[in-house]
Amino acid sequence: MKYKGMLITFEGGDGSGKSTQAELFKNYLSNKGIEFFSTREPGGTDFSEAVRALTKDMRYKDKSLISELLLFEAARADIVEKRVIPALEQGKVVIMDRFYDSTTAYQSFGRGMDREMVQKLNLFASHNLVPDITFYMAINPQEAFVRKGGVEQNDLMEKAGMEFHNRVKLGFDTLAKENPDRFVVIDSTLPISKVYETIVNTYENKVATKQNVLQK
Ligand code: TMP
Repeated sequence: MKYKGMLITFEGGDGSGKSTQAELFKNYLSNKGIEFFSTREPGGTDFSEAVRALTKDMRYKDKSLISELLLFEAARADIVEKRVIPALEQGKVVIMDRFYDSTTAYQSFGRGMDREMVQKLNLFASHNLVPDITFYMAINPQEAFVRKGGVEQNDLMEKAGMEFHNRVKLGFDTLAKENPDRFVVIDSTLPISKVYETIVNTYENKVATKQNVLQK
């Protein structure tokens, strides 16, 4: 990546535990005194949070698939331009709870939107950023549902049904196979502490590699 900082994304299906791990990783960085910026997608700026609410709003569940895709990209463009790129330029670690791999998994594999178009929009909205590490918390959707207590979910994606969520999982699995250089696949049924250990070790190795490259 052309920036001094490091972009780390957390991906996975609903109920995969990625937000918990993103929180733990933030604590780790704070304790080490490492400067970071963290955000979620969609969200992170006033505009993107407003778009987030729209994407989840059941009143608009009949909106066109193109509209849904463009909403996620619109939210992305704002947070990336206003917060993510400046933080990377300042050399910070940027932690994102979801990024464009979610769009490929949900809108392309899940909803059936053309993958090439989704890929183009992902790169356009994110100024061609590529994460240094993507932690993919893999879980079978049925198990994630049970883990969440099997309760009725309220928002649009959560209500989309098991077949949809199986396709989303296939999307993440495919992306992981296609991008082995940045994807770290984590079995999210492992204990929280074990997952945390993998995340920290991967991060520390990446930092060491980056420093070696810079010194050469
Ligand atoms: P979450 O942050 O609570 O996981 O909610 C975000 C929801 O939006 C989640 O169901 C995944 C979905 N989503 C997409 O469908 N496409 C996207 O590009 C992103 C970022 C999220």
